[in-house]
Amino acid sequence: MAIEKKRNPLVKDMESISGFSKLSKEAKMEWLCGHFENPESAYEMLSSYWHNDKAVQKLHDEFIENTISNYYMPFGVAPNFLINNKMYTVPMAIEESSVVAAAAKAANFWLNRGGFKTTIISTTKIGHVHFAYWGDYEKLLNFFEGHVKALLFSEAEDLTRNMRARGGGIKDIQLINKTDEEPNYYQLYATFETCDSMGANFINSCLEQFSRTFKREIENSDLFTEREKELQVIMCILSNYTPECLIRAEVSCKVEDLEDEKKEYTWQEFVDKFEKAVHIARIEPYRATTHNKGIMNGIDSVVIATGNDFRAVEACAHTYAAKSGRYRSLTDVKVENGVFTFWIEVPLSLGTVGGITSLHPMVRFALEMLGHPGAQELMAITAVVGLAQNFSALRSLVTSGIQKGHMKMHLLNILNQLEATDEERKSIVKYFEHDTVTHAKVIELFCELRGVKSLAELK
Ligand code: MEV
Repeated sequence: MAIEKKRNPLVKDMESISGFSKLSKEAKMEWLCGHFENPESAYEMLSSYWHNDKAVQKLHDEFIENTISNYYMPFGVAPNFLINNKMYTVPMAIEESSVVAAAAKAANFWLNRGGFKTTIISTTKIGHVHFAYWGDYEKLLNFFEGHVKALLFSEAEDLTRNMRARGGGIKDIQLINKTDEEPNYYQLYATFETCDSMGANFINSCLEQFSRTFKREIENSDLFTEREKELQVIMCILSNYTPECLIRAEVSCKVEDLEDEKKEYTWQEFVDKFEKAVHIARIEPYRATTHNKGIMNGIDSVVIATGNDFRAVEACAHTYAAKSGRYRSLTDVKVENGVFTFWIEVPLSLGTVGGITSLHPMVRFALEMLGHPGAQELMAITAVVGLAQNFSALRSLVTSGIQKGHMKMHLLNILNQLEATDEERKSIVKYFEHDTVTHAKVIELFCELRGVKSLAELK
């Protein structure tokens, strides 16, 4: 019957359990499924998402702790992305109906207008040793510059050997005094080049080594008082805010080339409203958040498909958007001498080696599809998809409105929820070929086809 789903309601409250992570996968599932009204169907549900190939499933099991099944997301592709004169079909993993369609539409639009161009502005990553020190800053600074800094580099050499061989490593380490913001708070602020890896493990390992060397040298020096020797390392951690790992992507064309082929609007109307829409997102944080959310629809889906850390990318992008002290749009637009230019500047810390990039079969596939890009090329592709996504969203918003395209894509979700038959789907999809989809109208048409007045009658 439509709508009514087969449910497995929990019958018991969850009780605490110790040593769960030590149980076998089978035992974990039995414990969990034992809380369901129908343990067999709960077990069946979980195991139906296991991979057929035991070796692949084992990989997934070992990515995280307590894996009991897999969580599928659609893996789509957006073809026709012309980036720096090279053609790409871009992998995108995302659940939101309209995102891939919007990316593909923008890719097609710009394909005939010169494509996307990108510039890597910088690729520096950052990490800190955060510490407390009760003593004379000048003395610490002189000791750091004159003695410790070189040792930090040399004692991390084992850790940095491979990275240095690839052209990367530690770029610089500085002592920062933060005591005007927090009493006794200082940092070792270190910058890194991590080449094709995102570099989190590399950076964190270096930072922990720095803290050991630093603390030992202070403790062993006669220059410091007993109180000063009590220097307290609070934590060593990379920063996911990487404003110096920055990419710019842009599109541009003559303003007349923005004319709508279907003649629904003139290029003058379009440019005027598009510029205003971007400016609103530059000054109004409420709109900027949604504007940037749309950009992240594109960025995240590429980041996920290529096995990168979307939480890090998200956190960084939003901090960057607020760098002026006000949260602003990540994209901007200008029209000069009859040329429309639309661009994004966004920090993206990505890797194409390390992490799960060589482990997850779909990630390997995605990277192969992109022609095995290095990190900088992946930054370019990802930023472009963010820009494309924003272009499509703004283009819809300032012309037809967003719901026309959104609801067209969402229609299949509604029909799936209704468990419509193939015939019913065909007929309802046909009805909406020229009309904006609304939830209420879909239900009305569905009920008509089933010969009932309301869904309640179908229960
Ligand atoms: C929806 O996921 C994203 C949009 O809201 C973005 C925007 O408004 O710019 C369409």
